[in-house]
This record gives sequence, C-alpha cells and structure tokens, in this order.
Amino acid sequence: MEFSAVIVAAGSGSRAGQGRPKQWTTLGGKSVLRWSAQAMLQAGARQLVIVIPTGDESLAAEALDGLAGWRTAPGGAVRAQSVMSGLAALDDRPGDEAVLIHDAARPFLTPRHITDLLDALRTADGALPALAVADTLKRETMDGPLVTVSRDRLWRAQTPQAFRRDTLLAAYAAWPAEQGEPTDDAGVVEQAGGRIALTAGDPLLMKLTYPEDFTMAEALAAETRVTVVGQGFDAHRFGPGDAVWLCGVKIAHDRTLIGHSDADAGLHALTDALLGAIGEGDIGDHFPPTDPKWRGVDSAVFLEHAAGLVRDRGGQIVNVDVTLICERPRIKAHRAAMRTRLAELLGLAEIRVSVKATTTEQMGFTGREEGLAAQAIAAISLPA
Ligand code: CTP
Ligand code: MG
Repeated sequence: MEFSAVIVAAGSGSRAGQGRPKQWTTLGGKSVLRWSAQAMLQAGARQLVIVIPTGDESLAAEALDGLAGWRTAPGGAVRAQSVMSGLAALDDRPGDEAVLIHDAARPFLTPRHITDLLDALRTADGALPALAVADTLKRETMDGPLVTVSRDRLWRAQTPQAFRRDTLLAAYAAWPAEQGEPTDDAGVVEQAGGRIALTAGDPLLMKLTYPEDFTMAEALAAETRVTVVGQGFDAHRFGPGDAVWLCGVKIAHDRTLIGHSDADAGLHALTDALLGAIGEGDIGDHFPPTDPKWRGVDSAVFLEHAAGLVRDRGGQIVNVDVTLICERPRIKAHRAAMRTRLAELLGLAEIRVSVKATTTEQMGFTGREEGLAAQAIAAISLPA
C-alpha cells in the first residue's frame, strides 16, 4: 500500500537533559531523527515530511545527509500543531492515501512496524502499535492513600500511527478546543468517532523522554552495529636526505625515506588498515603510484580519504594502533606528536590512537637500516 509519512521532530526535548533537542543527538553515531527517517524511506514512503523547529534546517540537513526523498516543514508550539503543519506540507494526492505520523523521539522503527499498520488500516479509521500494560498501576489521591488501578484493557500507545489523510484532517478540524491538547493523533480520530485498530507494539519503539532512556537506547543502538578490523603494512627504503615523515610528523634524520609520495610508512599502513576494514582494496587502488598527481604529496591526504570512506558507510573508527619498526630514528620522543597528529586527522580522541615503535634487534632489512616498516590495525564500528 502506498503511503506518505510525517515525522514530528520540532520539540525542544526539555525533559531529556541532552543540552539540545533530542532529535539532533546521536545514537550509535546516527542522529535520533535519522533512524526513523531511514526506516520510513526503506519501507517505501512516497513522500516524507519532517517537521522541525524553525531555524534548524541546517541541523536537519546534517542529520539526514545522503538520504533522498524528504523535505521539512516548520514546527508549532505544541505537538498537535507540528502534526498539522506536516499534514499541510504533504502534496495534494487523493485524501484516502495512508499517512503515517511518527515521533522522531522513537528511533527504532522498522519496516515491519509500518506494514503491520498499513494492513490494519484497511479495516479501521486508524491504527497504532500498542503494548499491554504489565506493571501494576497506582494512582495518588489528593488526601487519601494510594489506590491500585486496574490495568485490565489498558494499552500503551506508540507511534507511528496510520490514518487516511482526510480522516485525520477532518478529525483535527473537529477537535474541541476545550479538551486541551491531544497527546496523540489516534486520540483526535477517536474523539471524532473513528475506530482505531491496535497492532503489535514493540518495546523497541520506546520513546526517548528522560536522560535514562538515552542510556538504554545507546545500548540497543550498539546491538545493531558490528565491529570490523583491518590491518595494514608498509615499508620504505632509506636514501640520501635529512628528514623522514612518520605518522604525519617530520623528524630530522641523517637520511630520508624514498617513495612516490612523502613515503610516510606510518600513514600508509594506517590508511591500508582503514581500507581493509571496509573491504575497499588498498592504498594503491585509490592513489596509483604511477599517477604523477601523488608525487611528493602529504600522505595525510590518503588517510583522510580512507577515513571519509569509513564515514560514508556510517562507520565510526573505534581505535587505531600503529607500530613503527626501525633502529633509527629513535621514535620515542616523537610519539606524543604523532598521536596528536593522527587523532587530529581522524577526528578521534587521543585515547583512541596509539603509536608504538620497536627495533628488530639489528636483524633483517630494518635491523640493517636499509629501510623502515610500519604496521597498523584499526577497529571500526559499522551499521550491521
Ligand atoms: N514535537 C513536535 N513539536 C512540538 C512538540 C513536540 O514536533 N511542539 C515532537 C517531538 O519532537 C517528539 C514528539 O513530538 O518527536 C513527542 O514529543 P515529546 O517526546 O514530548 O518531545 P519534546 O516535546 O521534544 O520533549 P519535552 O516534552 O521533554 O520537551
Ligand atoms: Mg513534549
């Protein structure tokens, strides 16, 4: 069934304690809004309107970067106004088209939730996912003792909620102002006499409301990611010169390293580790040594390119670890600067970056100081 979708993301998140509206915070490296927007688009939404606070257009563009098929509408002072703004921004397709209204604050939406709702809507005026109440309910009385309230036939209403567009618009138009603000859209259709069907609710459709909800959601988000690792190795020959580049740092030496670029074996090994983790071939595939463009180039360019490919896949570098293998130059005095430089190039905290060095006890090509080698490993968290 064809459907349009509205995601309301125009609240201020005053209870969430995130320091900014909760739709812009991240879960598992992805904005809260992006999670459900992606699900709507994957499920085949014909159009997706995202209702956002006025002035937050660039935040929305950043949060949804790379996704196509969405546009924004300005939010209202209360949720119901934001919903109406979103409905008004839909194109004027026939009014019997299904429309799904969803809270951005419920990130873990799946296409399955959506198809269940669209199925249920065939025989009802609205449909929503609902969970039976499992806890015993207590009500405070003004002056008396606590009383237990029956949970019989009580449901926890979630979103998205599905309606035919005309039904919802007519219900909102008929909503009696003296009722105050509706807290969900099905309530508006119920008030207008509509029949609402319930689909299977899902604890994963939890709403992020309070700070502790984010702790739980972060754990759930981690479940949907995998950690991959990649390793890299590189070696360069010494030749006449007065300095070497290693891990982005220039070190005075009585020789230099020979190579097509700046011969920074540390950056090359690390670039290959990143490419390896995401199955993107090796540095030579991306920067052929036969291409004069890369002659003498700062190898930071290679590393930043690989880090960009990781980001394009929604990946986050967990940590990197580089080992430089040489008798000379002595690395120890430069390790801190190398770590700082790598952290800067990768946009990582220094604690996630390690640079180590070893000799090979005068054995082999590094031991004889014919050349220098580097190896690296990188762990990357990717969407599963
Ligand atoms: N919402 C909206 N416009 C508003 C108020 C809320 O679009 N004027 C959206 C929120 O962005 C959220 C959903 O409605 O996706 C549910 O609201 P709620 O959980 O209350 O979010 P906030 O209003 O942002 O949070 P708080 O009430 O804690 O300030
Ligand atoms: Mg609110």
